[in-house]
Amino acid sequence: MKQRVTIRTLAEHKRAGRRFAMVTAYDAGQAALLERAGIEVILVGDSAGNVCHGQETTLPVTLDEMVMHTRWVVRGRERALVVADLPFLSYQTGVRDALLAAGRLMKEGGADAVKLEGGVAVAEQVRACVSAGIPVMGHVGLTPQSVKAFGGYRVQGRSREQARAVLADALALERAGAFAVVLECVPAALAALITARLGVPTIGIGAGAGTDGQVLVLHDLLGLSPEPAPRFVKRYAELGALAVEALQRYRTEVERGAFPTAEHAYATDPELTAQLQELGASLEHGEPAAP
Ligand code: KIV
Repeated sequence: MKQRVTIRTLAEHKRAGRRFAMVTAYDAGQAALLERAGIEVILVGDSAGNVCHGQETTLPVTLDEMVMHTRWVVRGRERALVVADLPFLSYQTGVRDALLAAGRLMKEGGADAVKLEGGVAVAEQVRACVSAGIPVMGHVGLTPQSVKAFGGYRVQGRSREQARAVLADALALERAGAFAVVLECVPAALAALITARLGVPTIGIGAGAGTDGQVLVLHDLLGLSPEPAPRFVKRYAELGALAVEALQRYRTEVERGAFPTAEHAYATDPELTAQLQELGASLEHGEPAAP
């Protein structure tokens, strides 16, 4: 078995100044693709709400759904570290809830670690999970579970006070024992400053090139989402367009009778062909089919 990526691997990457990539996955097939590409960290994101469940936000995603996605992803994983998102209101309500929810993602889902959103406000939850042996990744800046409070998906940390607040959140997470911190949609200079201040790795999304790692949502990266991608996304392929073209070709070939051809059918041996012809003829003459 290949040597697994652990939270220590990421700490070593930070010490050595090696960048690393994290990508989201929601099922075993996607996880297997990430493995084939050598992606070291798989995030079972609650972005499942947007890209799999057809929701506008991540808010409706339930803990049961996250446990299910995590279990699927873990089945497709070989070497990568699997981090699972704690969904909205599974941890903000207190330490006990956070422990129970994180425990389910690990015990039932098989996650190696959990991720939660927020900094100072959830530091107690992070501390409790870490003391219970649950590795926690933090997430600050634009935290999608607070989209209603932000009044939309807006870049965070643009003013001096906001920037201080994002830095304070990241530091609070590190003090509470988080092993890494995601920085989402913050100015590149702020992300670089936080990365320099923290001893644990930062993972950026819309946070410039100065973080230790980067993360993208699989569907954005592969061009599977029909919506125009946010500015920070680089679409490395247009698989959505390719898939639609393939599906249209399949539909037209079925409609024209061009698929399937003999190449895609099972050959019948000549003896059976003769028997089937006899059977067809006898049915035409109204004879009952022999048992
Ligand atoms: O749920 C998710 O996909 C995330 C990433 C955007 C970091 O939290």
